[in-house]
Amino acid sequence: MARVFSGIKPTGSVHLGNLLGALRNWVAMQDEADAVYCVVDLHALTVPHDPDELRAATRSLAQVLFAVGLDPDRSTVFVQGHLTEHAECAWIMECTASFGELRRMTQFKDKSDGADFVSGGLFTYPALQAADILLYDTDQVPVGEDQRQHIELARDIAVRFNGRYGETFVVPEAVIPPAGARVMDLQHPENKMSKSDDGAAGTILLLDDPAAIDRKFKRAVTDSETEVRYDPAGKPGVSNLLSILGAATGRSPAEAAVGIERYGDLKAATAEAVIEVLRPVQERYHELAADPAETDRLLAVGADKARAVASATLDRVRTNLGLLPRT
Ligand code: AMP
Ligand code: TRP
Repeated sequence: MARVFSGIKPTGSVHLGNLLGALRNWVAMQDEADAVYCVVDLHALTVPHDPDELRAATRSLAQVLFAVGLDPDRSTVFVQGHLTEHAECAWIMECTASFGELRRMTQFKDKSDGADFVSGGLFTYPALQAADILLYDTDQVPVGEDQRQHIELARDIAVRFNGRYGETFVVPEAVIPPAGARVMDLQHPENKMSKSDDGAAGTILLLDDPAAIDRKFKRAVTDSETEVRYDPAGKPGVSNLLSILGAATGRSPAEAAVGIERYGDLKAATAEAVIEVLRPVQERYHELAADPAETDRLLAVGADKARAVASATLDRVRTNLGLLPRT
């Protein structure tokens, strides 16, 4: 069975784009692959953060992952910082990647531009991500388009390391969903829905209540025509609603358009479908949130499973690199 690995940062709130574009796919892959999923708290340290918020966000994100359907029996779900192997391997990745390679990463340019404080970790972030991936002999990494460059770097590091020190790492590949899997902002349908967007009116959060979801869809930007038709270039707002409605009801956007005549009806139908998709997720989330000790127990089980794989890989890495064995 193929090994699949992906990670998600505990910053901001999980939104509908994360669910439809990524997490649903993570859940589906549990049955087809040996799936490993990680809450990457160490990556959250690359930008200024509040300790209490990070602790709460890390546990809460794990609860979201369980609530959307990741099953600790069928997959491995763990917190990056619970294993020492990730930070240790990241150093080795930093020494394998070149300065020039890291400097070419567009995410660093985007996130450092105009920031008050730019940490060294923000620059070496992709080396830690390479460690995450390579520690698990990963075949496939399901991620959004924005992460393609980081997965390419992980591949280059794996190939270079294997060439210099002998076969050590599996060379992973990115699995990127088709463009249709992108959920756009309800207020600015030319931009992707995102958690960092200040205009919360355009973002449906996973934990929004039905009234808030209704309100946000009612206010969604459409266009000055009246025809309900899927045409992402010409009608971005309406097309986004159709692709959300389609994704929420297991149909294509064009199929979702059948029988809907008015924008008001499209908004109402989309809101209702999203509320129905989120209802069971929210119920499970609130059950899990009521018992944090159970979440922590599940995460400890996940960390043990992850460590069994990661520590074996790291032993191989240390040996091949020429680090003196510890006795
Ligand atoms: P992020 O929220 O950027 O940390 O991304 C977490 C995961 O959700 C990544 O796999 C992203 O590609 C995916 N994702 C984020 N925003 C969207 C969106 N608007 N539509 C589809 N997928 C998304
Ligand atoms: N950098 C990824 C993001 O911003 C999160 C991430 C960290 C990740 N480590 C990973 C994704 C390993 C895939 C594999 O979304």
